[in-house]
Parts: sequence; structure tokens; C-alpha cells
Amino acid sequence: MFNLILFGPPGSGKGTQSEKLIAKYGLKHLSTGDLLRSEIANQTPLGLEAKKIMDKGQLVPDEVVIGMISSALDNNPKAKGFLFDGFPRTSAQAEALDKLLELKNTGIAAMLALEVTEEELVKRLLKRGETSGRSDDTNETVIRARITEYRNKTAVVADYYAQFDKVVAVKGEGTVDDIFGALCKEIDDRM
Ligand code: AP5
Ligand code: MG
Repeated sequence: MFNLILFGPPGSGKGTQSEKLIAKYGLKHLSTGDLLRSEIANQTPLGLEAKKIMDKGQLVPDEVVIGMISSALDNNPKAKGFLFDGFPRTSAQAEALDKLLELKNTGIAAMLALEVTEEELVKRLLKRGETSGRSDDTNETVIRARITEYRNKTAVVADYYAQFDKVVAVKGEGTVDDIFGALCKEIDDRM
């Protein structure tokens, strides 16, 4: 198995690049944000609880997302590999992921970290908020709260993978195709 983490702050292009990467490399896309939004759309108890937290721009509890990822790994036994998007987002999630992958005799090949300035992130998300229907994109206060959560709780996840020499920084500004090219080069070097 070949497993990658696509890392970066809200609006850095994780979802956009994931679509292209899974098409090229045949990986299974696991986005905790998408999984949570599908729980919300289905109005499950988990979704209804998560929505209150997501609408404030805060992280949902670790045990909730770890449980979702654990089920997704079990439900895809034939996957060639996984592309994790928006997970892990705390040190506890990173440690839990390592244990789950170890049980399947696999691990993380690399963390690709998209780097984008805060002003560009806010601009992109406000623009998407005009049409996306994502309630956490509609006001700047919530967008900035998401970025603050990223700085306070998520940025350390890169330090966790750096100790195993797994972090590759990639410039996340420019055209979607140029960024995709840069990501592919890093992946091909490691496959
Ligand atoms: P999640 O769904 O993961 O959202 P996010 O990390 O806040 O980031 P986005 O999905 O908004 O951005 P992205 O990096 O995917 O960029 P995108 O490609 O869309 O999480 C949402 C919430 O769920 C969290 O706040 C939290 O509450 C909860 N949650 C999720 N996972 C969790 C976890 N593990 N633990 C706890 N809570 C969790 O691009 C953004 C925009 O920019 C788009 O409009 C796109 O078209 C545009 N764009 C992309 N690339 C470019 C480019 N190169 N140039 C110009 N525009 C571009
Ligand atoms: Mg996304």
C-alpha cells in the first residue's frame, strides 16, 4: 500500500488537488470534512452534533474522526493506498492513524504540505462561500477561526511527521495544474 497525507490550512487546495491525485494514482480519497458533511446531509445524530462545532470553525472531537477513519480503512480492504485529506489534524489523530495503519502492516509514505499565505486562504474561502453552500465559508470570522484552530492544534502534526523525515513542503499558490505537477514530482520520487 502507498499512503499519503495531503496537509495544509483551510483553503490551501487539499480537496482540489486530491481529486486529481486519486485519478492519477488510483488511491482511495479519505476526507474527514467530506465524511462529516455527508453525516450532516443525512441528518445523523453524529452529523447534527458535528455541525454545531463546524459552524464555529472548531475541530470536532478526536474520537469522532478517528472512528470514521477506522471504519473507512476497514471498509476498503482492497485499496491500493489511501490519500488522507484534512486528517490527521491533531497529534492524537496522527498517533491513532499510525497505530491503525500498523495493524494493516502499512504506514505513511509522505506528508505533502501545501503552503499558502493567510490572506490568500481567506480570499479563496470567501469566494467559494458565495456559491458552495458550505456554512463555514460564509463569514470571515468563522474562516479566521478555522485558520486559528489550524495554527493552534494542527500545525504541530507536521512536526510529528518531520521526526520521521516524511514532510515535503510544496508551494500551494499558482495555477492548480502547476501545483499538481509539483505534487506529482514529489510523489513519483517516493513511489
Ligand atoms: P475540511 O472539510 O477538511 O475543510 P478545511 O481543512 O477547512 O479546508 P477546505 O476543505 O475548506 O479547503 P481545502 O484545503 O480542501 O481547499 P479546496 O481545494 O477546497 O474541514 C471542515 C471542518 O470539518 C473543520 O473546520 C472541522 O470542524 C471538521 N473537521 C474535518 N476534519 C477534521 C478532523 N480531522 N478533526 C477534527 N475536525 C475535523 O480549495 C479552496 C478554494 O480555493 C476552492 O474554492 C478552490 O476552487 C480554490 N482553489 C484551490 N486551488 C486554488 C489555486 N491554486 N488558486 C486559486 N484558487 C484555488
Ligand atoms: Mg477540503
